[in-house]
Amino acid sequence: MQTLSQSPTDPLFVQNPYPFYARARAAGPLIWWSEYKMACATTHAAVNTILRDRRFGREAPEELRPAIPDHLAPFYAVEAHSMLELEPPRHSRLRSLVLRAFTSRRIAGLKEGIGVLCHDLIDAFPEGAFDLLDAYARPLPVTIIARLLGVPEDMGPELLRWSNAMVGMYMAGRTRADEDAAVAATEAFVEFMRGYIAARRSDPRDDLITSLIAAEEDGERLSTEELITTCILLLNAGHEATVHSLGNGVKACLEQGVRGGDDTLVEEILRYDPPLHLFTRYVYEEVELFGHRFRRGDEVGLMLGSVGRDAAVNDTPEVFDPSRAAATHLSFGAGPHFCVGAPLARMEMAIALQVLFQRCPALQLVGQPRYADIYHFHGLERLMVRC
Ligand code: HEM
Repeated sequence: MQTLSQSPTDPLFVQNPYPFYARARAAGPLIWWSEYKMACATTHAAVNTILRDRRFGREAPEELRPAIPDHLAPFYAVEAHSMLELEPPRHSRLRSLVLRAFTSRRIAGLKEGIGVLCHDLIDAFPEGAFDLLDAYARPLPVTIIARLLGVPEDMGPELLRWSNAMVGMYMAGRTRADEDAAVAATEAFVEFMRGYIAARRSDPRDDLITSLIAAEEDGERLSTEELITTCILLLNAGHEATVHSLGNGVKACLEQGVRGGDDTLVEEILRYDPPLHLFTRYVYEEVELFGHRFRRGDEVGLMLGSVGRDAAVNDTPEVFDPSRAAATHLSFGAGPHFCVGAPLARMEMAIALQVLFQRCPALQLVGQPRYADIYHFHGLERLMVRC
């Protein structure tokens, strides 16, 4: 396995990580990424194989669970119930309860409201140059998740602040101040959700929180702590990635003179410039794959951001081509942790793009958009446009 060096906070890499990914794929299906001190899967075949292999998982093996510093305890107390951080049997139980409440009927029920919200946001666009992330891409996903959960929509800005602060825990180069902000946000979020869930228990409504309260599997309900974490996870996981998919997508469309919003365009955006670039897995037992022997406790990186540019699965992968028949990517993951929100995210993106380009046919970039230093996320600092 070849060793490659690339700082994830290097400004050139932040602006354009794809040349490094091309070098990585050319070096083989697995590389040793020296800054992360771990083997990383670079190609569609390697990432896909590991995502689906039960000998790899997100939960740290028992003997390797790191001691949690006191000041981070409230954050990890919530994470301890997150399906995203668990493996069977708890993962299967939590995921199936959520899937039971997160029905296609409930998602389809959001469709009309998404369109209306897009029009309302566009009606409020300011004159002259403005940031499309703030005016459109940010308010949309958080409002829709608030609606889905049944949380008051005017809580949107507060939910966003909490979510942003918590997500800071996953970024390369986080500081003690980031950690303190994440913990404060976690505590405020938990307190709010605890009160809200208590209110829903005595006053059921037609929303996801009420369905989750009622969801039973083998007679076993979600505990209050699990419910709180699940709601926080849906908000956090559902928000940031959707904002950046929309931002990256509109940027690509405006740069290439593309207008539209069909499902093919959405898939091409997710392939060409996805919002989440690197996830990790622990190795649970010794296994040899792609010429490398993994040992229990090793961590392996999965370069989701590299997969869509793999020429083995997409012709001319460096070209943004909205007419591409079958854009192949793993931007929603694969296997047991495949994104629960993928159908909602796809629907939101399609409607948001359709309405935007239909209402603002002359939409144009103002200046060159810059990506924010937030790896493993890949999204813009702002997207200045004019209608
Ligand atoms: C374009 C937007 C989105 C992208 C690119 C995205 C991507 C992903 C990825 C890559 C994973 C798997 C992580 C792994 O395997 O380690 C994931 C998991 C997850 N996503 Fe999304 N996501 C998006 C939107 C959403 C939305 C809107 C929601 C909910 C409302 C959501 C909820 C979740 C949850 C709950 C999981 C954990 C599933 C599990 O562990 O079984 N996501 N997402």
